[in-house]
Amino acid sequence: MSSALERREELKAVFHEAQSCVRCPQLAAGRTTVVFGSGNADADLMFVGEAPGANEDKQGVPFVGQAGKLLDQLLGEIGLTRADVFVVNTLKCRPPGNRDPLPQELDNCQDYLYRQLELIEPKVVCTLGNFATKLLRGDPTGITRLHGRDEERQIGPRRVRLYPIYHPAAALYTRSMLDILRADFQRIPELLALPALDQPEPEPEPVVAEPEPELEVLEPEPEPELVYDEQLGLF
Ligand code: URA
Repeated sequence: MSSALERREELKAVFHEAQSCVRCPQLAAGRTTVVFGSGNADADLMFVGEAPGANEDKQGVPFVGQAGKLLDQLLGEIGLTRADVFVVNTLKCRPPGNRDPLPQELDNCQDYLYRQLELIEPKVVCTLGNFATKLLRGDPTGITRLHGRDEERQIGPRRVRLYPIYHPAAALYTRSMLDILRADFQRIPELLALPALDQPEPEPEPVVAEPEPELEVLEPEPEPELVYDEQLGLF
């Protein structure tokens, strides 16, 4: 098991790797920055949004616009700050014109999210809104039915308490949604206080079979030609 410091160093390495990612040529060509995610590298609580918007793309940090301000406020109401949590998106690059992420893009980006989960080791993962909720649950059930209900789920390498809640952007302009989001937020401390879930056994290192030594077919050595040594009179 690695220490928090070792995991942090590995996370930094993944961050640097992501900076030059070109798995999605259109996103790589159009982005200003790769929005890897930010916060506490050893956080118990992770938030997963959809994709960076224009502000995030400029600053390289997720949730820095109006929705981010609301996220900060709701965190403050349960006694937390961004320095206590880690915030990521399902996609690390801004889709052009804020279009929905494409299935191929989500597929390309998934490995970064899985490595973040593996290295940060959160206990609780809050999906923000429909998009992240459907993706991480692998199921089309919408946020209206699922918000505020925690469930144990395996997300890539990690078993977590998954806690879908409304996206703060949706709550910005709809009072009733804000009230629901606030009430759902109030349950987060209770979820964080629950015992950490048992983690699946790490995948065993693949046993690399020693290659069979190749049977060397030895050609019979040619008989040395007997050269008559006249001086010694030897054959
Ligand atoms: N909305 C998101 O889903 N993510 C961000 O980073 C900003 C807005």
